[in-house]
Amino acid sequence: MTHKIFVACDSKNISKVKKIIKETQNSKLKIGYKFGLEFLNSKNGRLFLSKLKNKIIFADLKLHDIPNTCASAIKAINDLNINYLTIHISSGLEALKAAKRVSNKIRLAGVSILTSLDNKSLKEIGFNKDVKKLVLLQAKLATKAKLDAIVCSAQEVKIVRKVFKKEIITPGIRFTSKTNDQKRVLTPKEAYKNGSNWLVIGRPLTKGNIKKNFQILIDHLNQ
Ligand code: C5P
Repeated sequence: MTHKIFVACDSKNISKVKKIIKETQNSKLKIGYKFGLEFLNSKNGRLFLSKLKNKIIFADLKLHDIPNTCASAIKAINDLNINYLTIHISSGLEALKAAKRVSNKIRLAGVSILTSLDNKSLKEIGFNKDVKKLVLLQAKLATKAKLDAIVCSAQEVKIVRKVFKKEIITPGIRFTSKTNDQKRVLTPKEAYKNGSNWLVIGRPLTKGNIKKNFQILIDHLNQ
């Protein structure tokens, strides 16, 4: 099995992003690059993306709005060569359907409960169900809206797989003890074992010595 990884390019510094891309090349892995709110909102980020060629590009816009605005935002980025794009499943079924109608060849990925949230944080924002129940409900909604992928924590892959047959993308991946702000984490090997199709890895690769971090990841996968 070829391991598939999205490297999260969370920086607004173009040279840093170029360095991340250069130092995470590996012929045995399938690598894509994820650009999120920081990069895409930075002055030169969008321009850089418009010129990036021959890469699997994941625009992590995490749309969370009414149907018309979600659809219009997707039309507005139509000039970019994007392969994956995210929308919060909690935008609701109508917004998901509206987004799907205009996403054309972009794979639309529904974001379930963020990996930085746990049951306590869900209570704080007024949700009565626990993470697992909510993620299952959201996965059903993603299936109904015919989304192409789901973003969830690797801890929920097996639950999601029961109702969602397409790609599962998992952030919250850690291969060292540092969890940062993430609450629901697993190691790369555990995530693949659970059935995740793509891992999203940011800081464990991009903070500090990128080459060294990347090698630690490869060693971990080969163990
Ligand atoms: O640095 P780290 O590996 O925690 O990065 C994870 C990336 O995945 C970040 O870019 C974050 O925005 C994104 N993400 C996430 N949890 C989600 C969806 C996306 O951490 N549920």
